[in-house]
Amino acid sequence: MFELAPSILSADFTRLAEAIQAVEAGGATILHVDVMDGHFVPNITIGLPVVKAIRQVTNLKIDTHLMIAEPSRYAEKFVEAGADMVSVHIETDAHLQRTLVGIREAGAQSGIAINPATPLVALEEALPFADYVVLMSVNPGFGGQKFIHTSVDKIIRLRQMILTRGLQTRIEVDGGVDASNIAKMIESGAEIIVSGTGVFGKGKPIEAVKQLIEAATVWV
Ligand code: DX5
Ligand code: ZN
Repeated sequence: MFELAPSILSADFTRLAEAIQAVEAGGATILHVDVMDGHFVPNITIGLPVVKAIRQVTNLKIDTHLMIAEPSRYAEKFVEAGADMVSVHIETDAHLQRTLVGIREAGAQSGIAINPATPLVALEEALPFADYVVLMSVNPGFGGQKFIHTSVDKIIRLRQMILTRGLQTRIEVDGGVDASNIAKMIESGAEIIVSGTGVFGKGKPIEAVKQLIEAATVWV
């Protein structure tokens, strides 16, 4: 089932509650929250207190994307703060399986995020412990970057890898997705689509969400 996950990274932070309510009204079901530490990625964004605050104003599923070093130190804290989904990067966790199990035991869905240059084979052993994979279609750190075209083939191969193993893992695509390419993501096997500037970059977020859902559901 397709779900749209607007990324608040590109929202107006002075009016965050309004932005969240707008995407909910437009039909989004997940809110993507980008947590960056200025270490794993070259940008610093938001953390636990903001997730706690967002939890007070929405019933949307909160999907925290941890772009931080040593994510195992914080993953379960994000569940306590109100996250329904927590993803950690495979490139920065030496004990990924333990972190994923910890996220599930804390009561949230566990996700593995994977950078554009990291091969899918790295996922193999940890895949059964993940509810979803965040396939990065840009190098993480900033909103508004150009979609890396080789990601389409990577989605197709990941879908195949999941099916071959008889798993239920969902594919989330993150980075550079807008109304022009969202249908291609769904066609290739993605089920959760993150969009930041595609939702908050121009005009009204509620209309942008409706348009993205319409463009995506051509394939549903
Ligand atoms: C990139 C973030 C993305 C970003 C997506 O580091 O993980 O979630 O906010 O933004 P757009 O859709 O503008 O590429
Ligand atoms: Zn993200």
